[in-house]
Amino acid sequence: MKGYKRFAGSLIEEEEAFIQGIPLRMMQAGLPGGYGITLKGENRVIGSVDFNRRHGELGDIYEIGYVLHPDYWGQGIVPEAVKALCFVAFSLIPELYKIEIACHGSNLQSQAVAKKAGFTLEARLRGRDHVRGQREDELRFGLLRSEWEGVQKK
Ligand SMILES: CC(C)(COP(=O)(O)OP(=O)(O)OC[C@H]1O[C@@H](n2cnc3c(N)ncnc32)[C@H](O)[C@@H]1OP(=O)(O)O)[C@@H](O)C(=O)NCCC(=O)NCCS
Repeated sequence: MKGYKRFAGSLIEEEEAFIQGIPLRMMQAGLPGGYGITLKGENRVIGSVDFNRRHGELGDIYEIGYVLHPDYWGQGIVPEAVKALCFVAFSLIPELYKIEIACHGSNLQSQAVAKKAGFTLEARLRGRDHVRGQREDELRFGLLRSEWEGVQKK
């Protein structure tokens, strides 16, 4: 993804550092995995969707993160990938209670993904994040297993 100086408000170096840290964070938190996103029939990774944090006293609430190459934005690719990851996780991990997504207040693209994937906005933590010298609200979205199961039955 080199060549893009800014990436949805982030410096490309920050995104790279974040992505490189994902496997370590997953291992440390005992999280199940992450996936590269490819176009159907192509063997080229254009983005990723993964579990990047674990929450809750029982550790049964996972957080999803995602990123997509800007050439492919706006085609609904990541909402589809997030739904697929939710399907895999809720189907294969019986103890998984809930999945969350955290977005910066200014990241409307990420918030759109969360809503399209069926997540509910639960909280806006004002000024919780600090991004390159600027205070940012943190928005937290959630999808309960019961909600996900309800949608599967329809
Ligand atoms: C957030 C991201 C994964 C969205 O993926 P996507 O597959 O493009 O998602 P969608 O196609 O559903 O588009 C989401 C929103 O992005 C906006 N958008 C679409 N194309 C865009 C473009 N070329 N430029 C800017 N915004 C665009 C639209 O508002 C769209 O919502 P809408 O369809 O309701 O209008 C992608 O923008 C990205 O990788 N951003 C940088 C990394 C990031 O922010 N990750 C999330 C951290 S929490």
